[in-house]
Amino acid sequence: MHPLFTLAGRKDPHPIYKRLRAEEPISQVIEPYRKVPFWLLTRYTDCSEMLRDPRFGKDFTKWPPEERARLRVSGEFDVLGKHMLSADPPDHTRLRSLVAKAFTPQIVEGLRGRISTIAENLVSAALARDASGMDLVSQFSYPLPVTVIAELLGVPSADQDDFRRWTTTLFTPADTEEQLAHLRATGFEFFQYFMALIERRRAEPRDDLVSGLVAAEEGGDRLSTQELVGMLFLLLVAGHETTVNLITNGMLALMDHPEERERLVADPSLLESAVEEMLRYCGPVETTTYRFALEDVEIGGVTIRKNELVLASLLSADHDESRFPNAARFDVGRKPNKHIAFGYGIHFCLGAPLARLEAVIAVETLLRRLPRMKLAVPREDLEPSSMLLLLHAKKRLPVQF
Ligand code: HEM
Repeated sequence: MHPLFTLAGRKDPHPIYKRLRAEEPISQVIEPYRKVPFWLLTRYTDCSEMLRDPRFGKDFTKWPPEERARLRVSGEFDVLGKHMLSADPPDHTRLRSLVAKAFTPQIVEGLRGRISTIAENLVSAALARDASGMDLVSQFSYPLPVTVIAELLGVPSADQDDFRRWTTTLFTPADTEEQLAHLRATGFEFFQYFMALIERRRAEPRDDLVSGLVAAEEGGDRLSTQELVGMLFLLLVAGHETTVNLITNGMLALMDHPEERERLVADPSLLESAVEEMLRYCGPVETTTYRFALEDVEIGGVTIRKNELVLASLLSADHDESRFPNAARFDVGRKPNKHIAFGYGIHFCLGAPLARLEAVIAVETLLRRLPRMKLAVPREDLEPSSMLLLLHAKKRLPVQF
């Protein structure tokens, strides 16, 4: 098995990426679960070049059917899979423009007060439950973004336990028939949930994003029902699973670097740059999702043949020494910091302004309310949340106050 997929590699992929960047920056890897071969890009220049190259596509309906059968997971999730992250222009442009207005920095800024209230309440609830400590993931990092995105969409945040269960299944490798059946059933549960919600908003529209999208769907040619379900699925999953891990990884980085933590506490004007550094240093999205070559493409001296799959390692690119001086150093004041933790090119993260604001508020609230917070278990005991390459995340983060 490729070392990146081992437990040691999932816990700390950096030594592996460092070697790959030096010796084999574009290498062929086989995904061990579905035995899918892909090209892994690890250098900043190659990753950013590939991500903005229109000769790499994301619309797998253009991929040969026999190849699609091998990427079984996308097949199981076909009912949810018609969204902007699996579309090429012009569909991508149309789908993204339908929601882009809801996620601009100006609109998102209007959520500041509400996000702060949620963060304060979560800390108060944790303290009331146990004044000595908590699991930061389940009691703070997860409920914060899931509540925000659920409120924005107009999805009842009381259903968040279901979202957690469904998305955990999504990020669990499935290779046995039993696991695949579970994955299929979960996809269907998600689908039914959204269909029921759409029908409720169709009958009784509200002032929320789901109602707005239902109106666009009723407009006919702008959004099909399948695209509407895909959009809700993508926004809900992308809107929380990633931010959870930015908050968690970021707080862990501060606990690992007490001098940087003190520097930040002494100078809160560094909060924004500290969050940018968390994105670069321990960004939660380790690799992009798959793209495939629409024709033969030469990149970094390697020829990627038509239909071959590629993944860009954003975490590796953001640790590329040729791009970031002292790349292995966590520096809350780093400037410039042109990381690609939110991706690059036309699929650049739509939710970046929201994720940034949530993280700034989360970090500020935690440092102020729980100033002595420290890790409650040995560092090496922290388990990765997923064995897939996509997420760089911890399952739990037990802390003492
Ligand atoms: C796309 C990262 C939070 C919505 C992406 C991509 C990355 C990313 C790397 C591109 C994936 C690829 O090219 O294969 C992150 C990180 C986040 C975060 C690191 C938090 C720290 C959010 C939030 C939302 C969101 C809060 C809420 C709406 C999206 C959407 C796309 C996307 C809709 C697809 C954009 C497109 O295809 O044009 N994100 N994301 N993300 N993200 Fe985020």
